[in-house]
Amino acid sequence: MLWRRGNPWTIWRSKMTVHIGAKDGEIAQTVLMPGDPYRAKWAAETFLQDARLVNETRGMLGFTGTWNGNPVTIQGSGMGMPSLSIYANELIRDYGAKTLIRIGSCGGMQPYVGIRDVVLAMTASTLSTPSRGIFKELNFAPCADWGLLSAAAEAAEAKGVTTHIGGIYSSDVFYDERPDLNEQMTRHGILGVEMEAAELYNLAARHSVRALAVLTVSDHLLTGEALPSEERERSFGDMVEIALHSAFA
Ligand code: HPA
Repeated sequence: MLWRRGNPWTIWRSKMTVHIGAKDGEIAQTVLMPGDPYRAKWAAETFLQDARLVNETRGMLGFTGTWNGNPVTIQGSGMGMPSLSIYANELIRDYGAKTLIRIGSCGGMQPYVGIRDVVLAMTASTLSTPSRGIFKELNFAPCADWGLLSAAAEAAEAKGVTTHIGGIYSSDVFYDERPDLNEQMTRHGILGVEMEAAELYNLAARHSVRALAVLTVSDHLLTGEALPSEERERSFGDMVEIALHSAFA
């Protein structure tokens, strides 16, 4: 928003960015990022105290409240790395976010990874990301922040949630036409597939902030199983709590 204050020739700019309408001070340094804006609303209403809507530009809802007295924002990222990259860039560069934790779903890629299990993404392999343009021939290895990862592992163990820690695959497509590539992923121990974490990790590395992806297995590429919609909320709740514990450990 542009507005005039004092000297009529001085134009001040509030903190609104192109895609986030929150004002200065309305975004916490710790941001949880679900892909789905309605999951942001549900998580804020369920886990935060005094949550208030701080962004609704393009319907990509963001809420800020507190958890155990700590300020937290839960901001939707949209689906896929180009969308996440817009929100994460603006959160880090314009609003000063320092800890960004993706909370989302993934498709299981190992026989021992079950529906409802939690996956903590230590690394995120990918065919391409929005950062490819700057990495060019370099195969950069996007990885999680160790402090967040180890704290999330402890929180998951304390909750008794079946948890897997290792590499995931951040794909550009949900409707994948490369079964051969998925086979190679499974063969190389990749735990699950989603569509955002690799670029979040790239951006965190570039801007020296902390990032982690905490994922719930919602479907399985090997078995074709899928989490029934009525069970999604409870399973996703574990993931939100693990993310919050890890941010403030
Ligand atoms: N592919 C990509 N992203 C996903 C999937 C999947 O099977 N499941 C949940 N997120």
